[in-house]
Amino acid sequence: MTEPLTKDDYKPGDVTVHHDPERLHRVVKALRAAGRNVALVPTMGALHEGHRKLIREAHVMQNTVVVVSIFVNPTQFGPDEDYERYPRTLESDVDICREERVGLVFAPSAGDVYLPGSSVTVHPGPLGDELEGASRPGHFTGVLTVVAKLFNIVQPTYAVFGEKDYQQLTLVHRMARDLNMPTHVVGVPTVREADGLALSSRNRYLSEEQRQAATALSAALVAGAHVSGRGADAVLEAARDTLDAVPGVDLDYLELRAPDLGPAPENGDARLLVAARVGSTRLIDNIAVLLGTGDE
Ligand code: PAF
Repeated sequence: MTEPLTKDDYKPGDVTVHHDPERLHRVVKALRAAGRNVALVPTMGALHEGHRKLIREAHVMQNTVVVVSIFVNPTQFGPDEDYERYPRTLESDVDICREERVGLVFAPSAGDVYLPGSSVTVHPGPLGDELEGASRPGHFTGVLTVVAKLFNIVQPTYAVFGEKDYQQLTLVHRMARDLNMPTHVVGVPTVREADGLALSSRNRYLSEEQRQAATALSAALVAGAHVSGRGADAVLEAARDTLDAVPGVDLDYLELRAPDLGPAPENGDARLLVAARVGSTRLIDNIAVLLGTGDE
């Protein structure tokens, strides 16, 4: 028999941590039945200011219970990537969630998310093999599969993602549209340090010297955006020159694309995206640019 829900499953004014997907699902179902909206902020934990901004965005809709999922998803890491050493800081993450008036934290185990014999996944289509996907085969299958699971467990009206992972945001949008998911996907602009570095849980891997070199990514994007009126070649040249000038930054890709990550237009809205390795840490960043319409 299913255990009845109790007042400990959801405490208005405090955060409740759930590990069991089934139980969390029942709690959000009960909240929806009581007329509440549910907004989901999917994370892998190690929360920082960027996540706080996502949570604040999730609160924008009135009468909303915000659910933050904290799950380091094994299926989106390649065999040589940082799954084992990815920071796991549940206690301080829950403190941040409490400060940000999150109602529920969902922190499942890998075994509860991926039942033995799980074999069905969400395929991202061709975009999943480009940009990040070219360097991280299978990454977006892992991301979309876990996000689809989270959407099914939490059934949120809204789900909030950062623009820092722009390709992820684009693919999650596309998944929700192509698979008729009833969740509205919201993108939130990247939060940056004062010197431009995009906030990321992986920044904590950087030494002081590497941290300094890492600012080359955002500096390159800004340099590119600055000459966007002169067109795509000028943007890419300015960005590449900026990256080349900084030792210790090993460029993976620098690309201009359309906002939906199709081919870049000659004029109009585009996205400039960069990925580079600084030491053993892979960093990504991106910026919106308006091509060819300036007076330069
Ligand atoms: O952006 C992340 O933190 C992860 O890729 C996500 C969306 C939580 C899926 O594991």
